[in-house]
Amino acid sequence: MDYDRAKAYLDERGQSHLLRYYDELSVEEREQLLADIEFTNFNIINNIEKQAEKKLGKITPLSSSVTVQEARRRKIQFEAVGLNMLAEGRVGAVLLAGGQGSRLGYDGPKGTFNIGVTRELTIFEQLMRNVFDVTSKTGRCFPLFIMTSTVNDGQTREFFRSRNYFGYPRDLIHFFIQDVAPACDYNGKVFLDEKHRVSLAPNGNGGWYSSLVNNGLARVLERDNIEWLNVFGVDNVLQKICDPAFIGATIIKRCRCGAKVVKKASPDEKVGVLCLEDGKPSIVEYFEMPDNLKYKTKKDELVYRYGVILNYLFNVHDLNQTLSGKLPYHIANKSLAHVEDGVRVKPDQPCGYKFETLVVDMVKLMGSCLAYEVEREREFAPVKNATGTDSVETARELLVKNGVLL
Ligand code: UTP
Repeated sequence: MDYDRAKAYLDERGQSHLLRYYDELSVEEREQLLADIEFTNFNIINNIEKQAEKKLGKITPLSSSVTVQEARRRKIQFEAVGLNMLAEGRVGAVLLAGGQGSRLGYDGPKGTFNIGVTRELTIFEQLMRNVFDVTSKTGRCFPLFIMTSTVNDGQTREFFRSRNYFGYPRDLIHFFIQDVAPACDYNGKVFLDEKHRVSLAPNGNGGWYSSLVNNGLARVLERDNIEWLNVFGVDNVLQKICDPAFIGATIIKRCRCGAKVVKKASPDEKVGVLCLEDGKPSIVEYFEMPDNLKYKTKKDELVYRYGVILNYLFNVHDLNQTLSGKLPYHIANKSLAHVEDGVRVKPDQPCGYKFETLVVDMVKLMGSCLAYEVEREREFAPVKNATGTDSVETARELLVKNGVLL
């Protein structure tokens, strides 16, 4: 794209301010800016209005779930099916590590954070130990796809390399960078991150499958006949990865996807709740849930009690229907570095919008989802904050309770 085309293109979209500093730029910088403009999906900005219009559908309780008691009772049956799928190499895993982890306040990819006390135990290492827990049972390693972002990709790869991939077969680890979306001010004007760079931020964890495909990795799924993908976040140091019983239960219950859930600690706990929305499995965020549903009980139990823990199993064949661009963008009000009057500023307070797709929205597109309940104390120790709830402290406590030496 040359300057004239870029100008006309931006005029049409009300974004011509992005060329404001063009005359001051070097030849290379001009090229970079024009490339950024060509690459940016400005249509995403239209979602500012659409988001405001979004209404919750009719919420009803789930129809398909496995309780902790049922999982215990049918352990052998569920595990046999899952172990068989793993032994045949039909399951892969996707680690979502493209987030910015701003709440933890740690400078670097969250997975490189040291959760150890008397020795080094990084989050990545702990997750890889959880991977080995299952591969040692099946005797077969599965492909591990690791989603990074433009911000942390280099550091993440280098970290894995420096730790010799924690002893995992190198050829089974596939890094890929997640797609980006433009960030803008409250009037929908896209920010300049620098005078020659459009402000582009990771597009949320819902972008994982399209990003995997855009990075050419669908061919690995096809080549290796991968039928199921276990997707999980970087935060939860206690989670089981490619849990055979979870895989088996989802297959036996004939669901297209499964979600690990825990009973909410209280009606006000800030977790998304798995339920039905207009008859389809859906995850309602804690801030969207109306009070009359949030506090509703039956036989002394919350009716809407299953909180998701960002550990899902997706059928690869059915995932392709999520690729047709139907995932909504959510608006996040954030502090965003940008160029203002010729100077790059980094405000402390939110100053504009980032646009994110969320993995929870993929569940709705799948049409059926098994809620697979797990024991919180054994499988849920998220590291979100430095202190307080879901923090380094609480995760350490739970690791110790589960026999991990810190
Ligand atoms: P969070 O919702 O905790 O977001 O991500 P975050 O960016 O990591 O952390 P905060 O909100 O800034 O503190 C949940 C999971 O989704 C991944 C994260 O790496 C984490 O595993 N994620 C999030 C992505 O992979 N990409 C994104 O764009 C956002």
